[in-house]
Amino acid sequence: MSQIELSAVSYSYRSGDGRALRALRNVSFTVEKGEFVVLAGMNGSGKSTLAKLLNGLYVPSSGSVVIDGMDTRDENNTFEIRKKVGMVFQNPDNQTVATIIEDDVAFGPENIGVPREEIVERVNWALDVVGMSDYRGRSASKLSGGQKQRVAIAGVLAMKPEVLVFDESTSMLDPEGRREIMQVAEALNRSGITVISITHNMDEAVLADRIIVLKKGKIAADGTPKEVFASSVPEECGLCLPPAAAVARELGEAGFVFDDTVVTEEELVEGLCRQLA
Ligand SMILES: Nc1ncnc2c1ncn2[C@@H]1O[C@H](COP(=O)(O)OP(=O)(O)O)[C@@H](O)[C@H]1O
Ligand SMILES: [Mg+2]
Repeated sequence: MSQIELSAVSYSYRSGDGRALRALRNVSFTVEKGEFVVLAGMNGSGKSTLAKLLNGLYVPSSGSVVIDGMDTRDENNTFEIRKKVGMVFQNPDNQTVATIIEDDVAFGPENIGVPREEIVERVNWALDVVGMSDYRGRSASKLSGGQKQRVAIAGVLAMKPEVLVFDESTSMLDPEGRREIMQVAEALNRSGITVISITHNMDEAVLADRIIVLKKGKIAADGTPKEVFASSVPEECGLCLPPAAAVARELGEAGFVFDDTVVTEEELVEGLCRQLA
């Protein structure tokens, strides 16, 4: 059994005049515990809808979403699934509930009745993981965007999730803030948490174990970064190339030959050194 199993999932919204708008069509994939999966695709391709299906915020119009053997359609599973699958959204300002940082992080576990001493432990741990321990007694309003987003992640971590879904969580941040969040996500993934990251940032996508590309609500590609960037899918689906891949392509037009699809900077440097030696 995989940790996440989507079978023939479709999801429709109702438009104002009552017509159904199909946001996802027949989407099937599985994710194993500990994987780092990037979900990419143009605006409107269904990424956020998919994210909300993963923790039972939405249930499929048809097909099924099963998390650790629990079907999201069964309301008896909702509570467990919400604890298991944590979500980090785009705007950190919409995710803070309390003024003081440690209170904000404690809010989730308090709400589900975690005992006091354990809440303290969880808050300490979560703030430590995101590197915000020194700020615990301060007000969230004075933080940078990246710091706010790290506090939002700590709040989700305090629920001890096994899966973290980032929905364009770095898109409102400056490069420094983006780097901070990516480092936190990578560290959490190394500690065994499954990460599903929705992003337009192909720097980040090349670090993933797998990239799933959505196009108009359907899966257009599901493979390693190398497989996906070697295909014509990124172009068809409006994805940028990772910076190293773009450079390699330019160099290719200038006569350089790379044995394999270049996706990382290391591969670019290696390929160049071989030819310049
Ligand atoms: N609350 C909603 N009501 C109606 N249609 C929606 C709603 N949310 C999203 N949609 C539509 O569903 C499709 C997929 O949206 P979304 O999952 O937000 O895509 P993405 O996150 O990839 O930009 C789009 O056509 C969008 O307009
Ligand atoms: Mg979205």
